[in-house]
Amino acid sequence: MDLFSGLTLGQLKLTNRVVMAPMTRSRAGSDAVPTDMMVDYYAQRASAGLIISEGIAPSADGLGYCRTPGLYNADQVAAWTRVTAAVHAAGGKMVAQLMHVGRVASHHNKPAGSETIAPSAIVARGEIYTEQAGMAPFDPPRALGLDDIAAVIDDYRRATVNASAAGFDGVELHCTSGYLPAQFLSTGTNQRSDAYGGSVENRCRFVLEALAAMVAVDGPGRVGMRICPGNPFNDLSDENPQETFEYLLEHAARLDLAYLHVIRMPTGGVDNIALGQRFFGDRLIVNDSYDRDEASAVVASGEAAAVAFGRPFIANPDLVERFRDNAALAKMDTRTLYAGGAQGYCDYPPLT
Ligand SMILES: Cc1cc2nc3c(=O)[nH]c(=O)nc-3n(C[C@H](O)[C@H](O)[C@H](O)COP(=O)(O)O)c2cc1C
Repeated sequence: MDLFSGLTLGQLKLTNRVVMAPMTRSRAGSDAVPTDMMVDYYAQRASAGLIISEGIAPSADGLGYCRTPGLYNADQVAAWTRVTAAVHAAGGKMVAQLMHVGRVASHHNKPAGSETIAPSAIVARGEIYTEQAGMAPFDPPRALGLDDIAAVIDDYRRATVNASAAGFDGVELHCTSGYLPAQFLSTGTNQRSDAYGGSVENRCRFVLEALAAMVAVDGPGRVGMRICPGNPFNDLSDENPQETFEYLLEHAARLDLAYLHVIRMPTGGVDNIALGQRFFGDRLIVNDSYDRDEASAVVASGEAAAVAFGRPFIANPDLVERFRDNAALAKMDTRTLYAGGAQGYCDYPPLT
């Protein structure tokens, strides 16, 4: 197999194995509605075998960063419909990454009436950028009650219904980087003593229930999950990530997911790729700092079904064609990554 061969992941049919990794770019408008420039940005990158969208909040509570989009109201669904239509018209496929940040949030970046919530009332150490107050401390979160947990899982379900209505080919659960699902999995952020905390089985319950709710809407083979065992980002810590993720993957593998998306992290104490292969051998997308040659090698050896590229897609909308021609890659401007304007977003040209 090579990077440019077709691939079927569950119900998703990819024309090549170069996947665009999810990237928050902070270009959404008011009320977390996608903007016109987002339509162009994703359409420009439609030659990827699969586009995984930037993190999208399943509810207003799930927002945390500046100008990030949602999938919980009619205006958002209408705007995402224009994005997916443009991607499909250009021959691409696109899944929505559902990202609920939990405690990694500032109220400055959320609409009035929304809340910052988490498994336990433990504030994340660190700061987050806000337009109103510059760098601000993370909000103290409210610990979810049992009823609230059922409501949050229902938010994931409803966001999956909305994703389907908006024309996405599937959905991906963002289950790393210190956000809500990872907060439930990890001993440092989950100090509950009910059915959602304590034992590994209890700490994995939220993620497995959210996945099951998403699969129930979208059917088998359209839901993926992104993980990075051992990732300490956003003040996350777990006493035994190997054990946590073995349990999680063993049970997630029974849910008939389309794929598992694994970020490698050699410093995290777990061999993430080996763990992913054990449970999702033929449905594994790998990521982090791959280049064309290393990606070709892992696909050729069968170590991974596909490789996701993040930063290379920012300045190279035609990354697949450049890889095919072994052409030089353009460099991204880091100053405009989250800047909010058109500059550094849709203005990176293709080679020809
Ligand atoms: C600007 C930017 C925004 C990102 N936003 C997200 C996100 O919304 N969701 C997510 O799962 N990962 C996010 N990531 C991580 C990327 O998906 C990817 O894991 C990372 O860039 C490493 O892959 P690369 O070496 O190919 O760039 C982001 C990365 C960048 C550079």
